[in-house]
Amino acid sequence: MDLFSEAAWRVKQAGFDAVELHAAHGYLLSEFMSPYLNMRTDRFGGSFENRMRFPLAVIDSIQKKCGRASPSSSATRSRSGARAAGDRRGAGDRPRPGARRRRRPRPVAGHAGEPGAGFDPMHYPQGWATYAAEATKKVVKIPVITSHSLRDPEYCEQILAEGKTDLVGLGRQVLADPYWAAKAKLGG
Ligand SMILES: Cc1cc2nc3c(=O)[nH]c(=O)nc-3n(C[C@H](O)[C@H](O)[C@H](O)COP(=O)(O)O)c2cc1C
Repeated sequence: MDLFSEAAWRVKQAGFDAVELHAAHGYLLSEFMSPYLNMRTDRFGGSFENRMRFPLAVIDSIQKKCGRASPSSSATRSRSGARAAGDRRGAGDRPRPGARRRRRPRPVAGHAGEPGAGFDPMHYPQGWATYAAEATKKVVKIPVITSHSLRDPEYCEQILAEGKTDLVGLGRQVLADPYWAAKAKLGG
């Protein structure tokens, strides 16, 4: 836990507005949260409360070291966020030994190792993972950011206007064109 809060402290000292905890893609925090991956039998495994114990302790440790977010400090009114898997496959979806694989499995906004979660190929349709943000927004009161294969500003504006997400997150698009957002703003 101290390693997380010390890292967040360094991020804050470096002048960043916020930190995002990686609690998706099968990394440590998501391994604790997932009933599919967490096989522990102690107080960190089993019930929802137990599985959330470690991630919540990490958040607590960061807030103690870096301070809590001030309610109006930034556009998202928060200084921290978490990247979480919006979907998961159940153990029942695991291919049975010897079962024939479907040629192109359905992409899932879940964990690494499942089709789609981390490195979705370019042939995936634009916004294929937005269904997860839309579902998440129905059950939380905090801003939700969708990501994965969002290519056109027009499409992003559309899903924002439809209330499917509060913000959009881009990866490869801004690596390919760091002026993506500026061009979108200016209509270029
Ligand atoms: C080469 C590569 C490395 C990535 N590494 C990470 C990573 O370390 N952590 C993470 O959360 N996502 C990682 N991603 C996933 C991206 O954050 C992003 O979710 C994904 O590329 C889909 O969004 P995009 O279509 O806007 O790029 C990686 C993606 C690629 C292509």
